Amino acid sequence: MNQHFKLFLLFLLISFTISTTYSQDSKIAWWQEARFGMFIHWGVYSIPGRGEWLMYQEHVPFSEYKLLADQFNPQNYDPKIWVAKAKAAGMKYVVLTTRHHDGFCLFDSKVSDFTAPKTGAKRDLIREFVEACHAARMRMGFYYSLQDWHFPGVLPQGSPLKPETMKLLADQAYSQVRELLTNYGKVDILWFDGLTVDGPEGWRSKELLEMARKLQPELLINDRAGLPGDFGTPENTVTAQSRPWESCFCMNRTWGYAPYDRNYKPVAEILRLLASCSSQGGNFLLNVSPNGNGQLPDEQVDILDHIGKWMSVNGKAFYGAGPSPIVAPNLGMVSMVNDKVYLLIQRWPGSTVPLAWCGSKVKSACYLANGQYARIEQKSDRVWLHDLPQEPVDSYLNVIELTFEGKPKASDPAYK
Ligand code: GLC
Repeated sequence: MNQHFKLFLLFLLISFTISTTYSQDSKIAWWQEARFGMFIHWGVYSIPGRGEWLMYQEHVPFSEYKLLADQFNPQNYDPKIWVAKAKAAGMKYVVLTTRHHDGFCLFDSKVSDFTAPKTGAKRDLIREFVEACHAARMRMGFYYSLQDWHFPGVLPQGSPLKPETMKLLADQAYSQVRELLTNYGKVDILWFDGLTVDGPEGWRSKELLEMARKLQPELLINDRAGLPGDFGTPENTVTAQSRPWESCFCMNRTWGYAPYDRNYKPVAEILRLLASCSSQGGNFLLNVSPNGNGQLPDEQVDILDHIGKWMSVNGKAFYGAGPSPIVAPNLGMVSMVNDKVYLLIQRWPGSTVPLAWCGSKVKSACYLANGQYARIEQKSDRVWLHDLPQEPVDSYLNVIELTFEGKPKASDPAYK
């Protein structure tokens, strides 16, 4: 074999190994870098404004509920605004309800008449959303509820569906997921929800996921079709998992539009949740609930604006972040990105910030809120960051970026 040919074979072998080992992880790499996304709950239930479970909770018969679809003609719907708001808030992806448990589709579907194009709106609202995301280079996901309350024989939920109903519903889900993954170009995330007690067998989830992955090989799929998928989805709680995970949270207590629910979390609390997720290697999906006309409520816009301002200064503590070997329970949380450690200080201790159990030498400490570098004193594994302001500059969450000589490590990893 001549030398060149051998080299060529070696090159092929190396590229093959790299592509096969890398492709598994690389598919989700962008998502793990992103850490922060926007969830959007929007549908015909946004007109009455009493949450997305209204049809079920208020026991509205379909004959009455379907009238909402004829009224649903959102003149102020401009998904470019949503996407711009998400971007300005530092969010890196957006997940929209293409259909919720009521079965109403924001997209055009050959297998249902209960869709936006066939009722009041007379437009494919998902197409506009996709175009806005693609144009803004925003990653995007489709939430899709398997459960469909408008289907005869489905309510009340809780007991197994009759086999013939189950078959029709599973067939419908299969066709609609195919439509969603065929008709809109690249889709980044498929976010299932609404699995019934019939489980993954009833919904033929294995087949459904295989079809989805065949149509969009890069697609990330969540765990709510009853199969593990690519990531876990704790809801309104931060529960770290030993696999990729994403906590979704409402800003108030309702996913769908509910103007009477003024139970908004303070911005500091929302940032604490984001910090809690990213410092444990997870994502944070924060929900907004546009009204029936497509507008985001003022309170939510206000929260997004505050988050955005804060993220433009401090966001680097979160993107691509995971747990730090050095911890600081006396101060708050700690995240790590590459070899930088970020103290996410919830309890500002005054002009000297004490840190301990530090197994590497701290080279610099920058207070992101004002760009100031602290004077560092280090004795063995104890560190003091001096000359900082007595009172915190930021009223939400104060971040200090630590750079080390070499890799950051704890003096004793047993300290937590
Ligand atoms: C739940 C609710 C639903 C909401 C979702 C968000 O499954 O049924 O209304 O869309 O969680 O995670």
